[in-house]
Amino acid sequence: MQAVNQEKLDRFLGTMIVDMGAAMTAALVLIGDRLGLYKALAAEPMTPGELAARTGTAERYVREWLSAQAAAGYVRYDAETRRFALDPEQALVFADEDSPAFLGGFGDIVQAVFRDEPKITAAFKSGKGVGWHEHDRCLFCGTERFFRTSYKHHLVQEWLPALEGVVESLKRGAKVADVGCGHGISTALMAQAYPNSTFHGFDYHPASIEAARQRAEAAGVADHTHYEVASAKTYPGEGYDLVCCFDCLHDMGDPVGAAAHVRETLAPDGTFLIVEPFARDRLEDNLNPIGRVYYAASTMICTPASLDQEVGLALGAQAGEARLGEVLRQAGFTRIHKAAETPFNLILEARR
Ligand SMILES: C[S@@+](CC[C@H](N)C(=O)[O-])C[C@H]1O[C@@H](n2cnc3c(N)ncnc32)[C@H](O)[C@@H]1O
Repeated sequence: MQAVNQEKLDRFLGTMIVDMGAAMTAALVLIGDRLGLYKALAAEPMTPGELAARTGTAERYVREWLSAQAAAGYVRYDAETRRFALDPEQALVFADEDSPAFLGGFGDIVQAVFRDEPKITAAFKSGKGVGWHEHDRCLFCGTERFFRTSYKHHLVQEWLPALEGVVESLKRGAKVADVGCGHGISTALMAQAYPNSTFHGFDYHPASIEAARQRAEAAGVADHTHYEVASAKTYPGEGYDLVCCFDCLHDMGDPVGAAAHVRETLAPDGTFLIVEPFARDRLEDNLNPIGRVYYAASTMICTPASLDQEVGLALGAQAGEARLGEVLRQAGFTRIHKAAETPFNLILEARR
């Protein structure tokens, strides 16, 4: 055995303690989110008793929760006043659903991952897939809230304008398909921005389509949005000016088949917008904090989802631009380029 370098060991143990804390704290984030603790604390500095009174919770629990949050650096503690507070930056991350930095819903995703762990452990042995629809329902809401932050602040403002001629067409009145739309956050945002266009959301998961219909009602766009349970390879309609796949192409068993169907249903000058998790092409370039989150999600959610479907290509959430381009070329697309990127997303544009 190689000699142990004590300094390296100490550093690594330090990293592991931080990670143990983060893992334990995920459950506390979920509790804070569910009980409205972050949102209440965003109003003003509070003692545990004040926060408990404001949220209808028990002071002793809240005191312990706040102490853990302060140790995590998620809230600030003032030893003089004995009050806890959210700094503006912490409030943007935990308390303001509409902020460009909101991450407060991630506890739902972590809970789903732990609840579904036995299925994934068994799948490691069998090699079989675990479908998106087989996951704990927390995953669907958690995913909606996690992606909403990016979509709300980038989709209409940056991503659509980065596509050739698409905004003009949407303003005039375009026919749009949002394939693998999930809870339809992207569909509703586009429908709000472009009332002259018609939006068709498709997803193979019936519960998600039901949720998407409710979101469209709530967003006031039900009159020009239509949702239908359908797979990416067989959804109906043709002559779409724009077809979108938001964070879902890699979840599909046959992304080449799906993209080929997109190509068939596009108008001759139509655009295929592919939004995927941000990744570089080589594994060694994804060994960073974002890659860590996405490889973990890919192991627990995306790769099993793809393996559950026909072909089971299992691109994984870190496929990268080159591999995604290959998929699109195999499907018959010839003009493919990266239109935009954010730390979380890669935005590709493909045309026939
Ligand atoms: C990570 S979620 C993204 C949902 C949504 N686009 C969003 O960004 O919030 C992946 C979605 O792809 C859907 N999906 C997976 N395979 C599919 C397929 N073959 N056909 C249609 N939808 C599919 C799932 O049901 C799920 O809603």
